[in-house]
Amino acid sequence: MSNKEIIVALDFDSPMAALKLIDQLDPDLCRIKVGKELFTASGPSFVQDIISRKFDVFLDLKFHDIPNTVANSVKVAADLGVWMVNVHTSGGARMMESAKEALISYGVESPLLVGVTVLTSLSDKDLMLIGIERNVQEQVASLALLAKKSGLDGVVCSAEETKTLRSMLPRDFCLVTPGIRRAEDPRNDQKRTVGPREAILNGSDYLVVGRPITLADSPASVLSELNLAIG
Ligand code: C5P
Repeated sequence: MSNKEIIVALDFDSPMAALKLIDQLDPDLCRIKVGKELFTASGPSFVQDIISRKFDVFLDLKFHDIPNTVANSVKVAADLGVWMVNVHTSGGARMMESAKEALISYGVESPLLVGVTVLTSLSDKDLMLIGIERNVQEQVASLALLAKKSGLDGVVCSAEETKTLRSMLPRDFCLVTPGIRRAEDPRNDQKRTVGPREAILNGSDYLVVGRPITLADSPASVLSELNLAIG
């Protein structure tokens, strides 16, 4: 293992708070996720700043729009130099295909393009209320297959879904899994969690870890424990 399976979620509302954590992390031992909160607070120059410190950045902005807008947006993300970027698979096959096509000219420098299937905050009932009759599991599986068919490199999925998706999809289709907790970690608002080792054994390629690292007294020690657990 390369010891870079852990993606630390920088869920902060200011660049100062994020940098305080970044200063304690080693880019050879983790990657970084910048989501909507931090991106809205600190913008693209902050992302470039993290990249210049040699961190691989997953830009988690979950693009969902008409194909042209999403294609142009992932291109701008690629120009920033991010390692991974994502879209909502429910934006449809044409949207995903356009996003993938927009990245072709980047060749080996292209960011990985992954899709969000069903947000883990949604239940079967929530899907019904927006007119989707399949249950969450069926909808996740269907959208993951569509993502693969549309050329995406992988999907973000809950730890509960990893095993099923891994059995349906080729090994090089990457699965990115949040909701990771060691036995001793508080669950916070995560309902369904798995341990780091179990997640990897279930077929996850990358583990997104936020609060167990960001709220720790020693983030670097927690990171090395997590790396040891999956090593
Ligand atoms: O602090 P914690 O480890 O729960 O953080 C998990 C990260 O993964 C957060 O940035 C959260 O927004 C993200 N995420 C998630 N569940 C999803 C998709 C993303 O927890 N289904």
